[in-house]
Amino acid sequence: MRADELRELYLRFFKEKNHAVIGSASLMPENDPTALYVMAGMHPLMPFLLGQPHPQGKRLVNFQKCIRTIDIDEVGDTTHLTFFEMLGNWSLNDYWKKEAITWSYEFLTFKEWLGFDPEKLSVTVFAGDDDAPMDNEAVEIWRSVGIPDERIYFLPKDDNWWGPPGKVGPCGPCTEMFIVVDEIPKCGPDCKPGCHCGHFVEVWNDVFMEYNLKEDGSYERLEQRNIDTGMGLERTVAMLQGVPSVFDIELFTPLIAHIKKISGRDEPSDDEDRFVKIIADHVKSAVMIMADDAQIAPSNVEHGYIVRRLLRKAILSADKLGIDKGFMEPLADITIEMYKDVYEEVEKNSVFIKKNLKSEEAKFRKTLRKALGKFERMFEENGTITGKDAFLLFTSFGLPLEMTRDLAEEKGIDIDLDEFRKEFEHHRDISRTATEGKFKGGLADHGEEHTKLHTATHLLQAALRKILGDKVQQSGSNITKERLRFDFTFDRKLAPEEVQHVEDLVNGIIDEDLEVTKEFMPYDEAIALGAMAFFKETYGETVSVYSVGDFSMELCGGPHVKRTGTLGRFKITKQKKIGAGIMRIRAVLEPIDAS
Ligand code: ALA
Repeated sequence: MRADELRELYLRFFKEKNHAVIGSASLMPENDPTALYVMAGMHPLMPFLLGQPHPQGKRLVNFQKCIRTIDIDEVGDTTHLTFFEMLGNWSLNDYWKKEAITWSYEFLTFKEWLGFDPEKLSVTVFAGDDDAPMDNEAVEIWRSVGIPDERIYFLPKDDNWWGPPGKVGPCGPCTEMFIVVDEIPKCGPDCKPGCHCGHFVEVWNDVFMEYNLKEDGSYERLEQRNIDTGMGLERTVAMLQGVPSVFDIELFTPLIAHIKKISGRDEPSDDEDRFVKIIADHVKSAVMIMADDAQIAPSNVEHGYIVRRLLRKAILSADKLGIDKGFMEPLADITIEMYKDVYEEVEKNSVFIKKNLKSEEAKFRKTLRKALGKFERMFEENGTITGKDAFLLFTSFGLPLEMTRDLAEEKGIDIDLDEFRKEFEHHRDISRTATEGKFKGGLADHGEEHTKLHTATHLLQAALRKILGDKVQQSGSNITKERLRFDFTFDRKLAPEEVQHVEDLVNGIIDEDLEVTKEFMPYDEAIALGAMAFFKETYGETVSVYSVGDFSMELCGGPHVKRTGTLGRFKITKQKKIGAGIMRIRAVLEPIDAS
């Protein structure tokens, strides 16, 4: 079965079970200013999983493009990719475990659907711990469809619990489905689903979202119970075709064949084979990101930095295989051809994609030899690569930290990331002072009103949490030139005096004219310092954190104003309950002299 057939079949199966087909959302998360890319089918659906009614009903199905850079170091094995598609079906407070599991089983094993041999199916269920009991309900359902006990495995939270994607929020036990690959024997007597040897390949995950993780680390039952499922398209196709890896299906073979041809590697060694796969995966991911209507170009910050990292790693891998420059455009053409009928934006943005591939390659190739030469000299001189060296390679030669880390790893060296970060911060402070004058212009480019409302949104969230408590969590945010809109978890309208209190608190911070500061730090450090975060998996190792005095601290890409005094008068204009436990507030900033 081909990928296009699987997409079609999956939608058809769930349409027959009364699901509405929704389109794939953009790769840029709309409701989550802190996550760089959509990393699961549920990600764009977050407001609806938290209670906002979905216009198309309570049963939804789609395929969704996803980016997971968290797996970037695994690329080259049989299953991991940075760009992949996820097939998913959702119940928003509608059907529950019995239907979800029975339908998964039916779709996987019935002849008219995927027709996997039921004997090759193993499943895992949540083993239970202090927070939640063992998922006996799921076990009973698996037994009832015919899965024998020896193929039902019990795993702890690390494996069989999904979410919440951020620090708090909806989550729950899950049950994962694995297909056994006969060609790869078990790696040992303890080999079981979740083991990475390749014998068990996970194809589908059904999540039972019935808990809410609270700030204090405890779990409470959710008011709205959801089903969230995710089936990896490329993996499942590979299993259906009986090929050794995701790189052997038609969504990769034309790319792989082309790379082998231009590098003259018909029979690559294991290392060379990894480089071939990295090139195919990374160029495809960068193309799919740039194909999005948001038109993200390679750069040194945020979304653009991910594109740059992917492309530069692909160029470095190409360099190792002796591939000449100009190799990316044909790969982009192949990728565009592959996806143009599935995602219409891909062809539409092809000129933008190719222009950026070309200029990124030209820029990086120009300094790559010098960067590698410098790396070798640094190593010869000191017998190591310091954090400072890595920073110099980044600023002077454009070698991303992750690539320096990879090169260092080949020599058995660990880079001192703290030292790199210190250099980074030192450099940032110097350049911040130097560009202070230019900064205003930068903000104006983002839309001054938009920027102000963005900062006001942070202040609003902090004020709500101070007055209403920690159960207030952002569930969506949308800003126009005129107003901000903020959705958050809370179960009732605010009383007039609470509204007044929130406004007073925010306006008090505005009057104090506090500085808004941005810092880069490791994700764990930011969380330990109490920064508000929303979707954990999508953050890289280093995150940007915006603080307003000690009033507010949030993981966020920005932009924000420099000082709160520039905001004007904050006023809440409307509030509304938009779902079970979700409130929406609209607010504006009025010029000070008008108040
Ligand atoms: N959200 C679940 C996953 O990505 C289905 O595995």
